[in-house]
Amino acid sequence: MKTAHNVNLQPYNTFGFNAMAERLVRIENTSDLAQYFETEEPKPSLVLGGGSNLLLTRDLVGTVLKIEIPGFEVVAEDKDAVFVKVGAGYGWHDFVLKCIENNWAGVENLSLIPGNVGTAPMQNIGAYGVEIKDVFHELEAYIIGDRCFESFGLNDCNFGYRESVFKRKLKNEAVIASVTFKLAKTPKFNTSYGSIETELERMGVKDLNLRAVSDAVINIRQSKLPDPKQIGNSGSFFKNPEIPTSQYEQLQFAYPNIVGYKVSETTTKIAAGWLIEQAGFKGKRYGNYGVHDKQALVLVNYGGATGAQIFELSEEIIRAVSAKYGITLEREVNVV
Ligand code: EPU
Repeated sequence: MKTAHNVNLQPYNTFGFNAMAERLVRIENTSDLAQYFETEEPKPSLVLGGGSNLLLTRDLVGTVLKIEIPGFEVVAEDKDAVFVKVGAGYGWHDFVLKCIENNWAGVENLSLIPGNVGTAPMQNIGAYGVEIKDVFHELEAYIIGDRCFESFGLNDCNFGYRESVFKRKLKNEAVIASVTFKLAKTPKFNTSYGSIETELERMGVKDLNLRAVSDAVINIRQSKLPDPKQIGNSGSFFKNPEIPTSQYEQLQFAYPNIVGYKVSETTTKIAAGWLIEQAGFKGKRYGNYGVHDKQALVLVNYGGATGAQIFELSEEIIRAVSAKYGITLEREVNVV
């Protein structure tokens, strides 16, 4: 465990906002985690993973815990799958690359997602037709109130679209220490997401393999999502809203080009990027922050903007989309 005082969190959030932590404690293994909560009160003001889904709007008094627990270990294996236990502090994309190197399938569509393994289950990260729940086996979390570690299986996590029990009932109550994934020895490729097929064709791939799918996803992401190392952002800022299909059909009369995908008999998911673009915000720049010009769902800090400014912009977008379409956008990012 390492402690420092008055630390700027700028390098630790992908938006790159300046926000001071009164105290930063680095948790380097599971014993650190237990020791911290056994000896310290009150609760930390923030538990920080890769900082890739975080809108910091202020300086933080008290303690910020930075989870840096390492580890990558095959813990079991059967004829179809390997079970890999990964420390919460392991970088998500490094984990994906390691799976590809070993020819373990399941996470290739989730290539290049910023953030760490430990925070991935919190919002059930997803991209190109795959969500973490599809490869999830179990996780180990420290339950602050009970002062002990607990295992969570798939059903305990209540995974939904960018949702889990860790964002709801256990918000600020559980700190994820490790995640165990079930990866397939024989790939079941999921290239149904249209742009993957197109990109694989463009790349001239004849024999599908994990590396090719990963490279296709990387190319697609790089073509429309800004690299946080160059332009501060947190990926999709809002969730794609789910509305009753009847409401979607009414909107289709007025807006025949509206983009929606049926998720059940009664519910349709609307592309928030389309709503925001049509409301006139795509590529809009307000000095040192704005809306990305290739993906309207991504708000960006060109350098020197504050979280409060981006929050105010997100409020303006929510108001405009609601006024035009009667749909209330919900933020995907964690606002602190
Ligand atoms: N669209 C527009 N204008 C835009 C952006 C999108 O009209 O500026 C429309 C287009 O019709 C496009 C459709 O929206 O075809 C879908 O866009 P895209 O494929 O870029 O996906 P998305 O729904 O905007 C979601 C996830 C992403 C994930 C991609 C690919 C959410 C909130 N976002 O974005 O996840 O990478 O699908 O699967 O579900 C993230 O969560 O941070 C993230 C990047």
